[in-house]
Amino acid sequence: MSKEKPKVIAVSSGKGGVGKTNFVVNMATYLRSLNKKVMIIDADLGLANIDVLFGIAPKFNLKHVLLGQKKIQDIIITGPNDILILPASSGVRELTNLNKFQKIQLLTEIDSLDLSIEVILIDTGAGISDNVLFFCGSAQETIIIVTSEPTSLADAYALVKILARDFGKDKFRVLVNMARSEKEAFSTYRKLAIVADKFLNISIDYLGFLPNEQHVKDAIIAQKSFISLYPNSPFSKRLALLGDKIVNMPEDKSAGGVQFFLKKALRVN
Ligand SMILES: Nc1ncnc2c1ncn2[C@@H]1O[C@H](COP(=O)(O)OP(=O)(O)O)[C@@H](O)[C@H]1O
Ligand SMILES: [Mg+2]
Repeated sequence: MSKEKPKVIAVSSGKGGVGKTNFVVNMATYLRSLNKKVMIIDADLGLANIDVLFGIAPKFNLKHVLLGQKKIQDIIITGPNDILILPASSGVRELTNLNKFQKIQLLTEIDSLDLSIEVILIDTGAGISDNVLFFCGSAQETIIIVTSEPTSLADAYALVKILARDFGKDKFRVLVNMARSEKEAFSTYRKLAIVADKFLNISIDYLGFLPNEQHVKDAIIAQKSFISLYPNSPFSKRLALLGDKIVNMPEDKSAGGVQFFLKKALRVN
């Protein structure tokens, strides 16, 4: 029996600390409020922290899957608001560079999950490590988070460049986080879009922005999602707009999944 494939969205950045994990946790919570079935994959395999943000302590994680001790469906846990979470482990050096077989195993197992999930959000690490490229390279959509700091933009450009050149990615959506104004956010996006157009010949879409919100830290300390604690804040309202955009993104069946990865990244026809 055929089943609907989930929309797989990698959330990445060139530079660390720009708000990927915070975005993923809050977006998953928002999508659940729309009754979407959501799974988070914690793919920051060296420094996983989705579990910390949710205040949960999973017993098994991706390490056990990659060592052949568990199947993926056995390690998925149900977090707050029934968000499904595929946990990773922190500080395991073997996982910071998955080999080709582990990558194929992971994609195949994720592809064959029978959980009628509608959206998968992948919290990747930052930078241009092999794992980040793998998860972005095999997702249907890639959201790149930047801030207005020039270093964050330069690193985002480097990531986009490699994904475009080596993985055939030609579609990116930029989210400007911790923005001080809508205007500042859009001009940050434009800087990246202009160089990507000029030097890589790819167009980058603007997903939108999230304001700088000092209480985000309080939510992290409370180990709760920000939007559940402050549903009426400007951050939460903006997040809802982004969530509605994500839900309405047209499905791109040509990108993502095992076949796509094999063809693009491993050059297997
Ligand atoms: N919109 C925001 N406003 C203020 N602080 C934020 C915002 N988004 C994230 N942060 C803070 O930035 C830090 C890094 O966020 P995190 O989600 O862990 O980044 P990453 O996963 O990209 O490394 C955290 O301390 C978080 O509280
Ligand atoms: Mg993170």
